[in-house]
Parts: sequence; structure tokens; C-alpha cells
Amino acid sequence: MRWKILPSLYLRIALSASCMLLLASQTTYGDAIIEGERMHPKQGRNGMVVTSHFLATQSALDVLKNGGNAIDAAVTAAFSLAVTQPRSGNIGGGGFMLISSEQANQVLAIDYREKAPSQATEEMFLNKDGSVNSDISRFSHRAVGVPGTVAGLALALKEFGTISLQQALAPAIKLAHDGFVVTPRFSSGLKTVEKRLRTWKATEEIFYKPGGTYYEPGDLFVQKDLAATLQRISDNGAKEFYQGKTAQLLVEEMSKHGGLITLDDLKNYAPVIREPVHGNYRGYDIYSMSPPSSGGAHVIQILNILEGYPISDLGHNSATTIHLMAEAMKRAFADRSRYLGDEDFIKVPMAGLISKAYGESLRGTIDSSAANPSKTIAPGKPMEFESSETTHFSIVDNYGNAVSNTYTINFSYGAGIIVQGAGFLLNNEMDDFSSKPGVANAYGLIGGKANRIEPNKRMLSSMSPTIVKDHGRNFLVTGSPGGSRIITTTLQVIMNVIDHGLNIQSAVSAPRIHHQWLPDELRVEEGLSPDTIKLLYGMGHEIKRKSSMGAIQSIMIDDQVMYGAADPRRSTSLAAGM
Ligand code: DON
Repeated sequence: MRWKILPSLYLRIALSASCMLLLASQTTYGDAIIEGERMHPKQGRNGMVVTSHFLATQSALDVLKNGGNAIDAAVTAAFSLAVTQPRSGNIGGGGFMLISSEQANQVLAIDYREKAPSQATEEMFLNKDGSVNSDISRFSHRAVGVPGTVAGLALALKEFGTISLQQALAPAIKLAHDGFVVTPRFSSGLKTVEKRLRTWKATEEIFYKPGGTYYEPGDLFVQKDLAATLQRISDNGAKEFYQGKTAQLLVEEMSKHGGLITLDDLKNYAPVIREPVHGNYRGYDIYSMSPPSSGGAHVIQILNILEGYPISDLGHNSATTIHLMAEAMKRAFADRSRYLGDEDFIKVPMAGLISKAYGESLRGTIDSSAANPSKTIAPGKPMEFESSETTHFSIVDNYGNAVSNTYTINFSYGAGIIVQGAGFLLNNEMDDFSSKPGVANAYGLIGGKANRIEPNKRMLSSMSPTIVKDHGRNFLVTGSPGGSRIITTTLQVIMNVIDHGLNIQSAVSAPRIHHQWLPDELRVEEGLSPDTIKLLYGMGHEIKRKSSMGAIQSIMIDDQVMYGAADPRRSTSLAAGM
């Protein structure tokens, strides 16, 4: 029932946007939506889009300019990214979308994560000797989970949008059909993963020129098969992907190469509207993704642990702050390995994990001046802190929607497999399951029973689309790619804003750190001072300087003004408002 409230509100928002000038003089429209617009007519509260590709930002911004709402713009951006950024934008993968409506005072989540095919088995990635065959779990047709993106985006639009699927798909179809100009990032990405992409003829034909040469910056990149697939979805709706010609092409691709996805798997796929996890940090409400993602649980758990320290006084990226963050991260990732999985299959002790009391008890195990080696840390006992307290929603009279969406095909270019004739890449999300207890996946994450492979189960994710609210108003909309680093990247942007008072661009750009319990290493980006690193060594941390982490495209709304911050770690990112 709860979810039924929103569509009508969104409809009213859409109406209010397009009829604003007309209605402004009518005192009978004294409701929240119109009042909100009247109160802030010129303060830039009209729209802001931040994505990792400027063409997707532009498509979505056009939707807002034409009176569409944030959900319309999000779906349009997602389809445009599927064309302009095939390394991660997709229709062959899955993800999560958080939607916040200030009017309804609700934040909800659309779970369109991929599922294991019905023929998947717990041992499907094991060699005869019991070892894990990660080539199969990452780079074969068996690596592919049943895609959720098209169904998830269509659901978002149907329930909460105001434009049609055809309208949301139109810019993507044009970009695929007419082509777009290759950027340096696009060109270098295809060179980096050349070996994987050339493994499959259908993939090679899409991403390399006839004769096998590279697309270089400045070239036009056209995707006729993808354009035709998107056009069929536009003509026939999401069921085209799950029951139409696209489904047939996908299943043919599977059966030619030993993949498991069947027509029934596609037909039976359904996205789910879920309640996000909800916590509180220094007076701000934090909403983030619930299982089958671990992201929200651990962002909130780590914040709960850190809330007991005067982080602001300890300073941004000081050795002590980083030490405390790393210790909190280790404990959270240890819990992840044991307790997190698809809640449709297992019971996650969520109330305990995100309780303040459990955070406090974990804080009690941290030495504030010396690292605890990861081998001395084991998953805790969150269930002892379970309570029956219900998540609290406050009602406020205000205006504004926010969407935070993260979707993926797992690796850059997923499994590297294009569905022949359909022009889109397939995910390799099956590797996010725990193929064997204690054996790490591609992100070094280990798991056990909770995340073992089972038919039709969703594999555990770290994706953490997050919306922070301040006294009922949308305040921070954020999220990132980066595998296991998603959780800690999201955490740091929240802390950079709330604890350290950084403006959103500084919060996004600042050097980041990461610890995930195992391996026992504190990973740092370029830019931390050598003095800080020395101090951390002195506390017993094993420091590893590796490549940059995440790409956290964020918006902050402060005093009614929207600030968009694109992550400079991705050269094609763009924040644009109106
Ligand atoms: O769901 C997850 O946690 C991973 N499949 C996300 C992969 C990812 O972020 C890759 N990006 N760098």
C-alpha cells in the first residue's frame, strides 16, 4: 500500500511543474507542491544531473528542462549511458535505484539486481579438484546473471515517472543509431581490455573497426544492433527484452556457448521495490541500499562506529581519523563476509548490524592508537543487538524528489560478451557470489553460506546508492562504482560533508582510503601526505598505494541551492544544472 501513494504525488509534481505559472496565482492550490515552488522560484531548485558521461547528463537534463521529474531523467540517463559508456552503462546488467520524495516523506529502493539462472548450482565454478575456476565465473557465458536493468528502469518509470518508455529511450536510440564522437577514455578503455573483448567474434565486431583497428578519439562510434534492440524495447515495452526477439537472441547466445540462462529465466525475472536501510549520523538521516546489497548496511554500520569519535576535531585525512576509519571498515567487512546475502533466501541480522548499540560495542574493540591485525578480527554478533524498533519516517511539508541510482555489468565491459545480433554486453555478475567459502571474488571479498550460489538468488552487491536527508529534506545524493570500494567511497563523501564541512566538490575529489578486513591492507590514493602515511605505518597499518578508487557522482542541496559535483577520477563526467 505504502508504495501506491507515490505515483499520484509524482503526477501532481509533474503537473505542478508544467502548470506552475498558471497555478501560482490560484490560492486554492495551497498545497505543499505549489507552495514549495512559490517559495523558491529563482533559487536554482529546478534540476541537477551528474553522471559519468556528458552525453547522458545532457539527455537527462533535457528531460528536466521539458518538465520531467527526477525519475524520468534517471531512466533517460541510464539508457543513454548504455550507449555512450558500454563499459558500465548497460541493458545487460542490473542495479539499484533509490528514490526520495520529500512530499511523501518516503525513500524507496528499486532492486533490479541480476539473478542466478534457475539451473545455477553451488559448485558451478569449481574445478574437479575443488578449486575455484575464476575464468568461468568471470569471463564465460556462465558468468552471466539474468539481467534486470530494462525491467527495473521500466518499473521506475511506470510507478514514479511521468514520461513514456519511448520518450526515455529516444535519446539513447539516436545516440546508438547516429553514433557519437569517441572520447580518449572510450578509446583507451577498449585498448586496455582488448584481449577479453576479442575473445568473442560478436564483441570484436562491435568494438573494433572492420579489419580490427581501433576506434580513436574523434571517430564516430555507431551501434546499429543496439539501436535496433532499443527500438524494439521502445516499440514493445520491457517485455521485448524478457520475452521478445531480444530474449531469443540472448538465449541463443547462451545455448551456443554453454550459458545457463533460459527463456523461462528471462520471463520470470521481476524487479522488486524494497525499503532502503535507514540510519542516522550526527542528526542526518542516511538512506542506502538494502540487501541484496551490503552497501547500505555497512555504510551505516561504519558511521555508527565512528559517531563516537570527534572526527571533525581529529581532522580530515589525519592519521588518527584514517586509522579509526580503517578499523571500523575492517569490522564491517568481517561481518559482510558472514551475514550478508539475498534476504529472499537468508535472514540478514539487519537491525543488529545497523544498531547504535552494536556500533558502540564494535567501537569498544578498537585501539585508538594501534591497528588490530585483520587475523585477530572475526565477524561479530550483530543478532545480539536485534530489536523490534520500526524504521521511523517523519512527515514534512516540502518539495523535491531525488534519485540515486547505481547499476553495473560488474567488470568494465562485464563478461566481454556481446549478445550476437542484439549489440549489448552481458554482465559477469555471477562472480559476486561466493563461489566457495573463504575464496575471494574479484574484489578480494570473501563470503560463505549467506552468499552461496542458489538458483534464482541475487548475488550480494556492494552498490550503495545513498540519499542523506536533513530534517526531512533531501540533502546529499551520492553513490559510486568500485566494487568493495563503493562502500568506503560513499562513506567518505558523507563524512567529508558532515564531519569535515567540505563543499561537495572537495568532498568528492579528496584522496580516499579503503580497508576491507581481508586482505589486511590500508589502501590509499595519491595525495595523502607522506607524514600521515608514516604515522599510519607507525600504528601498524600495512599501506598500499594503488590506483584511484570509485567515481562518486554527487549532488548536495544546501539552503535550497543544488550543487553538483562530478568525480574528476572519470574524464567524461559532467555535472549540469538549470
Ligand atoms: O555489485 C557489486 O558490488 C559489483 N558487481 C560492482 C562492480 C563495480 O563497481 C565495478 N566498478 N568499478
